Amino acid sequence: MSRVAVVTGAGSGMGLAISQHLAARGDRVALLDLNGAAVEEAAQRLRDGGAEAIACQVDVSDRSAVLAAIETARRELGPIEIMVTSAGIEAFVDFLDISPEDWDKMMAVNLTGTFHCLQAVVPDMLAGGWGRIVTISSSSAQSGTKRMASYVASKGGVIALTKALAIEYAAHGITVNTIPPGFIETPMMHRPIDSGELPPMKDLLTRAPMGRSGTSEDIAAACTFLCSEEAGYITGQQINVNGGWYL
Ligand SMILES: NC(=O)c1ccc[n+]([C@@H]2O[C@H](COP(=O)([O-])OP(=O)(O)OC[C@H]3O[C@@H](n4cnc5c(N)ncnc54)[C@H](O)[C@@H]3O)[C@@H](O)[C@H]2O)c1
Repeated sequence: MSRVAVVTGAGSGMGLAISQHLAARGDRVALLDLNGAAVEEAAQRLRDGGAEAIACQVDVSDRSAVLAAIETARRELGPIEIMVTSAGIEAFVDFLDISPEDWDKMMAVNLTGTFHCLQAVVPDMLAGGWGRIVTISSSSAQSGTKRMASYVASKGGVIALTKALAIEYAAHGITVNTIPPGFIETPMMHRPIDSGELPPMKDLLTRAPMGRSGTSEDIAAACTFLCSEEAGYITGQQINVNGGWYL
């Protein structure tokens, strides 16, 4: 059955792979991202492959922009049935050097951005009596990670928000789960390696139980399952996709 899905952060990394997987199984997909050119290109490629896909340039921390993008998706594709929130930013800073402005920015994108997106789509899911929500959090919020306090706190909030909504909407056919990825090969992970913030990949991988990092495909496979009919009795869960590796 073809569903209507919205994926944020769909211009890169995991969000891009998730939107490709959902489109491949026949869902109609709205790709949202701050990077408008990236989602335009990604949506065009999906359309070229025969899928129904639209692109919306949006900053998820801007509530009115989120509401407008969701309205566009609803008008062009139909009521929203699946929402995946993958848009996010990271920062590596000593705790004492985090400015209040930087703290607020992190919360605005990673946590409040998730709040805006979910509030915008839940009414459609309630009306339809069916919904699948997957938030992308982080294993760093489960284990703690040094020099990432604002990021870790924002992702801890995403995990807690996910659990709260799972219970609030459990009786309405809506499942709400989070994937806390481990170390996944995307541009976000390469930036701190390239800048020297993290050790070189070959050194990092000596600590990986599977001897490799994860891929966006690993995340997309788990996410697509959580967005399926068959996953209807899974809610409020943290589905760890991390190769057994906590940094
Ligand atoms: N890569 C990892 O190892 C890793 C680990 C744990 C969690 N995560 C989380 O996974 C999610 C996906 O990350 P990724 O690795 O694919 O990173 P990525 O940088 O490849 O993709 C993130 C996307 O989010 C978009 N984005 C950033 N700010 C935005 C905003 N304000 N509004 C809309 N879009 C915005 C970016 O333009 C980008 O396309 C993020 O939430 C990230 O925090 C990543």
